[in-house]
Amino acid sequence: NVLYSVFGNPINHSLSPLIHNFFSEYSGIHYDYNAKLIEIDSFEKCISIFFQNKYAKGANITAPFKNKAYFLSDHLTDRAFIAGSVNTFKKNKNNIIIGDNTDGVGILYDLKRLNYLEKKKISKILILGAGGAAKGIIPVLLQDGHNVFVYNRTIKKTKEIYKNLNMLGNLCILNNFDDKKLLFDCIINTTSCIFDPIFEYFPYNLFSINTVFYDICYNLNCDTSFLVWCKKRGALNCSDGLGMLISQAAYSFLLWFNCLIHIDDLINYVFKKIL
Ligand code: ATR
Repeated sequence: NVLYSVFGNPINHSLSPLIHNFFSEYSGIHYDYNAKLIEIDSFEKCISIFFQNKYAKGANITAPFKNKAYFLSDHLTDRAFIAGSVNTFKKNKNNIIIGDNTDGVGILYDLKRLNYLEKKKISKILILGAGGAAKGIIPVLLQDGHNVFVYNRTIKKTKEIYKNLNMLGNLCILNNFDDKKLLFDCIINTTSCIFDPIFEYFPYNLFSINTVFYDICYNLNCDTSFLVWCKKRGALNCSDGLGMLISQAAYSFLLWFNCLIHIDDLINYVFKKIL
């Protein structure tokens, strides 16, 4: 069988192998897919060794390596180039490594599936975090016409995002939450913080009963810490990122096998199997 893998640190919580096993089952396309933990300083070496295997045809890259994956790619798809971040590698016939980013199309698909972005209405979206995941998502939301605000602990990273993505649409950087007039339709957590309650100082005036909340992280058996926080504050509509994970995986699958599976069916199929 041809071989695919997901690389990250940590990686033991990853559902990607399970999801790709279902894709294989569902599509009848046979491939092996496993998860590999990489030490922080050995990303380039591990990827190079992996692709030396003639059966290795592609990989997914997760935190914290999406920025490094961008620089390691021989060629970039347009959306990976714009994002400055890569979550999918494909090795082509000439052993060229193509870097793609399917996070943006994945979350857009899921937000629309959940009716979190109203049709024909511009949403005011707040992105928490400015890492590799945020960089994949922001361009797609801007290109879909929404007003996107970004807040991050490290301001230098938000400034860089503004410089690189501002021309794509209505992008605004927040250094703090002092503006009392801000009210968001949708708040998306892209930070990788699990235990540190960064949300504690998040002001109430930023959201209303109509605001929807989305965490790109997921836990199988309990709410993520972001969702716990949202629910404590009365959020009626909130979701973790399992739908995004399945959608972005479906777009990686499309890149690898040139085959787009019906994503809604796939999400129902995977949800039934694992929830
Ligand atoms: P990913 O590829 O998943 O985006 P990443 O590039 O490592 O991973 O980015 C992680 C994001 O989570 C960053 O925005 C990071 O903030 P900094 O840029 O300030 O490091 C954010 N993050 C991680 N831990 C955090 C914490 N304890 N509090 C606030 N933000 C945190």
